[in-house]
Amino acid sequence: MTEREQQLIHAAYAEVEKHQEKVESDYYRLKYHMMPPVGLLNDPNGFIQFNGTYHLFYQWNPFKTGHGAKFWGHYTSADLVHWNHEKIALAPSEWFEKNGCYSGSAVEHDGKMLLFYTGNVKDEEGNRESYQCLAASADGMHFDKKGPVINLPEQGYTAHFRDPKVWEKDGKWYMVIGAQSEAEEGKVVLYRSANLTDWELLGEMTGSNSEQLGEFGYMWECPDLISLDGKDVLIVSPQGLAPEGDLYNNLYQAGYFVGSLDYETAKFSHGAFTELDRGFEFYAPQTTEDDKGRRLLFGWMGMPEENEEDHPTIEHGWIHTMTLPRELKLINDKLYQIPVQELTKLRQTETTAENIQLSNEAQSFEEIAGDALELLITSSGSREFSIEINIHDNAKVIYNADDKKLSLERISFANGNWERRRCELASLSELRIFLDTSSVEIFANGGEEVFTARIYPEKSNQKISFSGQGNVSIKKWELSL
Ligand code: FRU
Repeated sequence: MTEREQQLIHAAYAEVEKHQEKVESDYYRLKYHMMPPVGLLNDPNGFIQFNGTYHLFYQWNPFKTGHGAKFWGHYTSADLVHWNHEKIALAPSEWFEKNGCYSGSAVEHDGKMLLFYTGNVKDEEGNRESYQCLAASADGMHFDKKGPVINLPEQGYTAHFRDPKVWEKDGKWYMVIGAQSEAEEGKVVLYRSANLTDWELLGEMTGSNSEQLGEFGYMWECPDLISLDGKDVLIVSPQGLAPEGDLYNNLYQAGYFVGSLDYETAKFSHGAFTELDRGFEFYAPQTTEDDKGRRLLFGWMGMPEENEEDHPTIEHGWIHTMTLPRELKLINDKLYQIPVQELTKLRQTETTAENIQLSNEAQSFEEIAGDALELLITSSGSREFSIEINIHDNAKVIYNADDKKLSLERISFANGNWERRRCELASLSELRIFLDTSSVEIFANGGEEVFTARIYPEKSNQKISFSGQGNVSIKKWELSL
């Protein structure tokens, strides 16, 4: 370890210790989500199951609740539910990463864990350089930096060239990178390697102003190419889309294209872009495949540059959290996100309210309240239901069977006004809602549509009420680790 690396790691731990009490005394600390011990957390990185253990790294700025020279923080888990916070994996100590060990991924090869990440470098004038770097580990805990393996191509792209995601196919290694063309269009490029150190640029897979898309943003971040149900699915986070009705209402988007990748020419033929999540805070997701063959996803429950300075947790020296882990399934070319089955381990006391006749008058039930819980609402009649769920007078989940729209409304933490996100949903059979002290994740119809958001209700208000039309059954579990 270099001296600079030791200094940085030491300074980061000192920051954790200095703020620990203030951070931990925050009511909005979540009860069953991964958070930074202090400072700012953003993207999930290096998600992998290695020797049976799940590893999730994260973009971390220990020194403030804003962005900056990122570290890789590190969590491990045997079951995707109980996570241990590990020692810092990467600190931005070397010339090729001095302004941040930016996002990237992990693979296993010859018994080693290999991390690919972007070294972010800026000079005094703010000119940027980027390097795709490699770090290797025998035990998944200590990482040996090997330095850059890919430089910015000589022409075609700006230095917004980052977030390598690596996978193996038919004995070869492939990497997608999020890029910006010189004309400032968002792109995804594909590389290939036989040995994981020498990489060849195969070409551009797709992007803004390519054959299959019109204008589609000025930068694409965090690409991930997965194969599900015989199709290739490109998950990516484009920046620069204008809102279109209920679509693209957040500052930046995260979504996917379903198609087919030609591994020789790099051409990806694909359909339209679909947002993965309809809520307020969801960005830069990353997936891995585990030993059960499941395709698992974590997202960052945050939105860069959109009112980040208004989150009330900042007073307590920390900001942002990860989503819950979700299993992906491709059903009729649509990505479903299903909370991983292991999350049922969080369930404590169960309460059921059967056959509730919803009406315009809001009803609440003594036992169906709290700040860390799972709700399962299903139709108990054969007919459709319309529902409005009021959560802590701070958020509302609304399905209207007449206009076929599902919405999440909340009181904005930036200005105190109600704000809404909404999507179409042809019919509603089930709502599964995970509430934590300052988050909500809503899964409709077994993951057909998902809404993820931060909410900051009053601590004393743990009431939930229901109104609408139709008959429903409500199950509630208190959740705890
Ligand atoms: C996405 C992102 C990535 C980058 C990282 C820096 O949120 O901007 O493109 O690698 O965050 O923290």
